[in-house]
Amino acid sequence: MDESPRRIWLTGASTGLGEALALALLAQGAHLALSARSEGPLRALEQRYPGQVLVVPGDLTDPEQVRAIGATIEQAWGALDSAILNAGTCEYVDVQHFDAQLFERVFRTNLFASSYCIEAALPLLRKGRRPHLVGVASAVTYVPLPRSEAYGASKAGLRYLFESLRIDLARQRIDVTVVSPGFVDTPLTRKNDFPMPQIVSAEDAARHIVERLDKRPLEIAFPAVFMAAMRLLSWLPAKLQLIIGKRMVRRPPQGGDV
Ligand SMILES: NC(=O)c1ccc[n+]([C@@H]2O[C@H](COP(=O)([O-])OP(=O)(O)OC[C@H]3O[C@@H](n4cnc5c(N)ncnc54)[C@H](OP(=O)(O)O)[C@@H]3O)[C@@H](O)[C@H]2O)c1
Repeated sequence: MDESPRRIWLTGASTGLGEALALALLAQGAHLALSARSEGPLRALEQRYPGQVLVVPGDLTDPEQVRAIGATIEQAWGALDSAILNAGTCEYVDVQHFDAQLFERVFRTNLFASSYCIEAALPLLRKGRRPHLVGVASAVTYVPLPRSEAYGASKAGLRYLFESLRIDLARQRIDVTVVSPGFVDTPLTRKNDFPMPQIVSAEDAARHIVERLDKRPLEIAFPAVFMAAMRLLSWLPAKLQLIIGKRMVRRPPQGGDV
């Protein structure tokens, strides 16, 4: 069996879950091509793990930059064994000031950028060993949650994209895994002003994912108790989901016009 290190393209590696995933994979000896807009944290990982890191920074919402990243990886490695598309963003909707541009921003990062990355990754994965494509979606796709119209729709779209792609790539022997985290403590969730049940550290989340990647499950969903609750909610009739959802909506400030 070929024991040479796996060549993995990981996006969104500058902070949060992506950075924790990078550290866990580098500790295992994997070779990583790391993307994010901020180059500094990627260079720091390159210095910490010399010879294991290819820094491929860029704005993944720009198809030209993503193509250039793909070309750099091809030149350096010639192929990819895995692509982990983790980069993402979250903005909450204020229904009193419904802003379609917010949807454009969130969809561009979470959905369209992922499709650009897939376009760049597939030719390289076809040349890789036991190729594996991994997409980080979210537990939000299980039930409609308040203020999550844009984030939830983008992640539901991403889930569909990966699950559909899984069927079409099966003959090419490219495995596809969807990751569905609950709440993870990262810069993204530190902005949240509501309770986040069962929140886990980025390190624990990364460990959980990395321990399971090799088995190529269809989905890696965690933490278990939170996911059990989300699955239960998803089986409820829509009317009951609405009643529960309405209870989650915070009351407007007294005297406010919202
Ligand atoms: N935290 C949670 O509770 C949670 C739960 C479910 C799913 N997720 C998903 O997990 C993934 C990671 O989230 P996180 O919580 O770790 O968030 P985070 O700390 O905000 O990290 C997001 C990463 O994506 C990169 N990124 C964002 N926009 C980009 C762009 N246009 N081009 C290139 N890179 C871009 C960021 O780097 P730069 O800013 O340097 O570009 C950063 O490295 C996301 O897809 C998120 O939706 C998170």
